[in-house]
Amino acid sequence: MSFFTGKAANNGESVPERIIPAHVAIIMDGNGRWAKKRGMPRTFGHTQGARVAETILEDAADLGIRYLTLYAFSTENWSRPEAEVSALMNLLRKYMKTSLERCSRNNVRVRVIGDKSMLSKDLQESIEELEQATASNTRIGFQIAINYGGRDEIVRAIKRASQEGLLSDPSKIDDTVINDHLDTAGIPDPDLLIRTCGEQRISNFLLWQLAYSEFYFTDKAWPDFNKAELEKAIDAFNHRERRYGGLTV
Ligand code: FPP
Repeated sequence: MSFFTGKAANNGESVPERIIPAHVAIIMDGNGRWAKKRGMPRTFGHTQGARVAETILEDAADLGIRYLTLYAFSTENWSRPEAEVSALMNLLRKYMKTSLERCSRNNVRVRVIGDKSMLSKDLQESIEELEQATASNTRIGFQIAINYGGRDEIVRAIKRASQEGLLSDPSKIDDTVINDHLDTAGIPDPDLLIRTCGEQRISNFLLWQLAYSEFYFTDKAWPDFNKAELEKAIDAFNHRERRYGGLTV
């Protein structure tokens, strides 16, 4: 696992180096509750949540995070009221269209993970366009999970590997075969998973990839999440001891 170190600005005084996780994944929860508390419709929370997603991407890149993965729409989210699903799809549509210029300028590589075949044709096209236009960008990899489910991703990975004839000999099936056929192929596993707004579960997110990630839960609702909160999560990460199933030496 690769880490990048960063130094906090401190008027030139030397401060201990903190480890910046290379890959941070976030379950952006609490948009609906945040809006309801303000007497607003749930979709207002999603709109605010999309703004925060944009800001956090910039903050993450500034901190030296190399990959950021956000859970925007799960395979289970289709069961929400049609108006809410449609509002979320419109937000994502808008995001793809307005991000082309900004992500190119900011050297951000965008990839969408999840089963894109279920999305509307125009959204699929905008995603394709954004992914292609930003494919050679290097400052930060930004993965947006849309119609994403961890189990579904593993099933699709196995199907793909099988179609390529890679599963016919059981002795040749290993972690690498699965890894290389996931939507996240080529992207290192998350070092840190953050979930906002109090719930402490992973809700079918990155089931394979989170095997050794550190988890951080905060009561803050996603629309209230900001750079200071992200830094709090990084500070907590710095107090964890990662053993990957081994022993401390
Ligand atoms: C969970 O809150 C949030 C979602 C299901 C949607 C997240 C989507 C966005 C923030 C907008 C699009 C993102 C990008 C990257 C442009 P909830 O609705 O489950 O809230 P609740 O638990 O309070 O009901």
